[in-house]
Amino acid sequence: MPLRKMLDGCSCLVILVLGIAITGVNSQLDSLGFISIDCGLPANSTSVDDDTKLTYVSDDQFIDTGVNYKIASKYASTGNGPEQYGTLRSFPNGKRNCYTLRSLSAGSKYLVRAKFMFGNYDNLYKPPTFDLYLGLNYWYTVNLNSPDDARFAEIITLATSDYLQVCLVNKDLGTPFISVLELRPLETTLYRDVNSTQSLVHLFRRNIGASDQLVRYPNDPYDRFWRNYTLDTWSSISTNSIVQPDPDYATPSIVMQTAATTSSTNQSLDISWTGDNESVEFLIILHIGEIQDIPRTDYREFNILSQNPLFSHVFAPSNLTSGWARYMDTGRTAYYTSLKATSKSTLPPILNAIELYVITPATGIPTYIADIIAIDAIKENYKMTIGWNGDPCVPIDYAWTGLGCTIYSNVPRITHLNLSSAGLTGELISSFGNLTALVSLDLSGNDLSGVLGTYLDQLVALTYLDITGNKNISSMLPPGLQKKQQDGTLTFKSKLGDFTQQSKKKKAAVVIIAVVGAVVLLLLAVAIILVFCLRKRPDNQIYIPKPNENTGSSPLRNSNAGSFAYNPAANGFHGNNAGKNYTNISKPRGSGEGMLNFENRQFTYNDLNKITNSFQDNIGTGGFGSVYAGLLENGTQVAVKMRSHTSSQGVKEFLAEAQNLTRVHHKNLVSLLGYSMDGDCMALVYEYMPEGTLQDKLRDNGRSLTWKQRLRVAWESAQGLEYLHKSCNPPLIHRDVKTNNILLNSNLDAKIADFGLSRAFNNANSHVSTAVVGTLGYLDPEYSQSCQLSRKSDVYGFGVVLLEIITGKPPIIAGPEGGHLAKWVSQKLPKGDIESIVDPRMHGQYDINSVWKVTELARKCTEHSSVQRPTMSVVVAELKESLDLEISTEGNPYNYSRNDNFMSDVSQNGIFEMDYMDGMTAPGPTAK
Ligand SMILES: *[C@@H]1O[C@H](CO)[C@@H](O)[C@H](O)[C@H]1NC(C)=O
Ligand SMILES: *[C@@H]1O[C@H](CO)[C@@H](O)[C@H](O)[C@H]1NC(C)=O
Ligand SMILES: *[C@@H]1O[C@H](CO)[C@@H](O)[C@H](O)[C@H]1NC(C)=O
Ligand SMILES: *[C@@H]1O[C@H](CO)[C@@H](O)[C@H](O)[C@H]1NC(C)=O
Ligand SMILES: *[C@@H]1O[C@H](CO)[C@@H](O)[C@H](O)[C@H]1NC(C)=O
Ligand SMILES: *[C@@H]1O[C@H](CO)[C@@H](O)[C@H](O)[C@H]1NC(C)=O
Repeated sequence: MPLRKMLDGCSCLVILVLGIAITGVNSQLDSLGFISIDCGLPANSTSVDDDTKLTYVSDDQFIDTGVNYKIASKYASTGNGPEQYGTLRSFPNGKRNCYTLRSLSAGSKYLVRAKFMFGNYDNLYKPPTFDLYLGLNYWYTVNLNSPDDARFAEIITLATSDYLQVCLVNKDLGTPFISVLELRPLETTLYRDVNSTQSLVHLFRRNIGASDQLVRYPNDPYDRFWRNYTLDTWSSISTNSIVQPDPDYATPSIVMQTAATTSSTNQSLDISWTGDNESVEFLIILHIGEIQDIPRTDYREFNILSQNPLFSHVFAPSNLTSGWARYMDTGRTAYYTSLKATSKSTLPPILNAIELYVITPATGIPTYIADIIAIDAIKENYKMTIGWNGDPCVPIDYAWTGLGCTIYSNVPRITHLNLSSAGLTGELISSFGNLTALVSLDLSGNDLSGVLGTYLDQLVALTYLDITGNKNISSMLPPGLQKKQQDGTLTFKSKLGDFTQQSKKKKAAVVIIAVVGAVVLLLLAVAIILVFCLRKRPDNQIYIPKPNENTGSSPLRNSNAGSFAYNPAANGFHGNNAGKNYTNISKPRGSGEGMLNFENRQFTYNDLNKITNSFQDNIGTGGFGSVYAGLLENGTQVAVKMRSHTSSQGVKEFLAEAQNLTRVHHKNLVSLLGYSMDGDCMALVYEYMPEGTLQDKLRDNGRSLTWKQRLRVAWESAQGLEYLHKSCNPPLIHRDVKTNNILLNSNLDAKIADFGLSRAFNNANSHVSTAVVGTLGYLDPEYSQSCQLSRKSDVYGFGVVLLEIITGKPPIIAGPEGGHLAKWVSQKLPKGDIESIVDPRMHGQYDINSVWKVTELARKCTEHSSVQRPTMSVVVAELKESLDLEISTEGNPYNYSRNDNFMSDVSQNGIFEMDYMDGMTAPGPTAK
């Protein structure tokens, strides 16, 4: 233990080049294909492990953040674990810090292990708790109890690209750190349960009946850790003969050579463990081989019993050959497996080894690879030291500072890049041109020089480019961008003047926004609209509230949270430019120009023409007129709803909708971003909902929504309606609830649209008498007859929506057997044949109880008599229950509690505990 001794000595700052320097620059793998990292070692130094003789390298080449520490000498000398615990790397800065393990092969399986011993390195005596991620996927929560508490986390995974990232995520429960990181390649034929969408997180791996405390490399060529285990009630047996390994798990012979049996055929061999959350899905692998030379007159055979009703297995072990039994179990908090001799058997059961894993999803979708390569090149070239690491866009909470991302057909793309005052020097590099989804690029306040190269013409989506304040850069745009600027689709800022001046102006604008409160807004909304009608404003008086200031409930400010995965970078960059808090998305003009600070932006016809690129992209038509896709100059996608002259919906409805929208703010209601009343032109500008209407989604013959997605859409839109009914003051009745008025954003979050028909009513008398409006098929029959409108009319419409969600059919079914959907469903249901009504496009992938529940709910909502229909609050609650039911039966992996209790505890009664580290004084197993 040379390293530990040195640390003991403690005076020696000149630590050690104990081994050879790292091999070839091209590969991070050693000659065995292993990566062994002793975190916190000085750059280029190595240490050799006493037991395995493996060389551990410094982590310098794997990460560029963090601080190296040595643990307190007291703990370095306790013999608590291997040499590599002497040093560690800790991460006081940044929410997420990632190691990148390169030189891997995509499609190969790897075992990755991270080890932690706090050792009071920071002299604070407070071991931290933090999360570990493998790439984008949650792996493990490191929760240390004492300075010498040593833990490891291990995962078996399939690499989908040529690198893996191990990320430490700060949970504000102490500074994350890591002591050791190991990667071992596995044959792809091993651990068949590991594939590109699921990994196995190690809970324990036990070598039963063994006297050696730990078997690992070189006895196990894959360096799995096999720890000894036995109970007093068991009898240990062993052999010196080689046990043939099996091809599926390659259990080492040395592990199979020891085993346990019970004292008689009457006695079962039991193993139990606990999980603190019923949704955790366990994988249990039992390794069994005969290692006793049994007389011919004897026979060994036993049942493997579990609580999983689908798994029960008779096992007759083969002489000196490894066999295995494997099964999954979930849905409880206490588990056991029991090996019990069959009546034929003359010998008790035998068990040589056991592995237990948690099946963990690996479904996070990384950022578009070309974007990653380009942004990495930019980071590298400008020597960015702002803690950019891990995936640039996902998980969104840990996205890189200064980046905004948008998800296009499930793949995150970098769409906004704010490198304002990021200390960039030298010329622009062509990698900027490779960020092809870029919408906004802010390079202001740097020291860039040279020209804007033609590679920037690849940025066809670019609408905003700012190079202000770079003294030595030519402000000549390449031809493509020049054209965009002339078209008005690109806002280009190139003033070389004083940069700080501008920042100040912006702050002033923010203050004004904050001052204009919601109360004023509500009172003045209508008045302002009218004032604007009479006043045509010059084009350049455009006002965009700063979206990053999350101080109020403006729909514009909130709209960043929902459909648009945007990292506001509100705090600017850390480091050299701290304090210059220059927003990267919109640049409000000064506020001293005498304009009204109305919360929603007002557009002129010319603005709309620009935004929609001359009304090119018509994305739909409603009673009001046509709807066009558009882009604000800051890159926000919008839908512009123009009132046509022939519109059946008049000025009154237009005003009604504008008015309604300005006072309703809810995550499940489409947000209004602005409006236009410019001469004849009347338009409303909404947040863009890229996934279109629920109706289209349900009728689309291509990719169909899953039952869970449908349930979530139902639950969310129900919340939108509930809000209108309950929380608006005065309450609103939508009056046109239908699948065509439920819109979906890229995240498939549902929002209710089209408030043109909404009608405010006084709470005191719950009915409103009005002319019948609405859409055929969704119309409340009672309302059609009586003209008495109530909230329950919306409930009826929503019931029809639910039926559509279940069946995928339109509200009015054509053909001889057709008629109204509600009638069709109630004709089929008494036969108890729910499957005959369920949308076949779900391919039977749903929890039948959950479908039943929702169908019942839909039927109640569509009762002829409105008093029998539930309120939206009841509907919301019931849908939530169904959604929970669906989630629990599919074992939603993200839901399980992220503390490691389920990996813990006490070995009394044969219950397994969390794996403790090499040499740890773990609570020893005791007899029953
Ligand atoms: C480590 O080795 C690399 C490559 O030989 C060298 O460039 C670097 O300066 C070394 N770092 C230290 C701290 O010695
Ligand atoms: C991975 O295995 C699981 C369980 O067998 C399976 O549901 C899933 O489809 C597999 N994924 C792939 C990509 O094969
Ligand atoms: C494991 O092995 C060590 C050392 O050989 C021994 O002290 C310990 O009791 C063993 N533990 C079990 C559970 O057998
Ligand atoms: C096993 O159980 C049976 C019936 O309970 C009993 O007759 C027999 O003596 C038991 N054998 C041993 C070895 O305990
Ligand atoms: C098991 O195999 C070994 C080696 O092949 C052999 O010597 C032994 O007799 C076998 N035992 C039984 C019970 O078949
Ligand atoms: C840009 O992308 C092209 C095509 O993918 C690639 O060949 C090139 O190397 C990339 N250039 C930079 C600077 O990233």
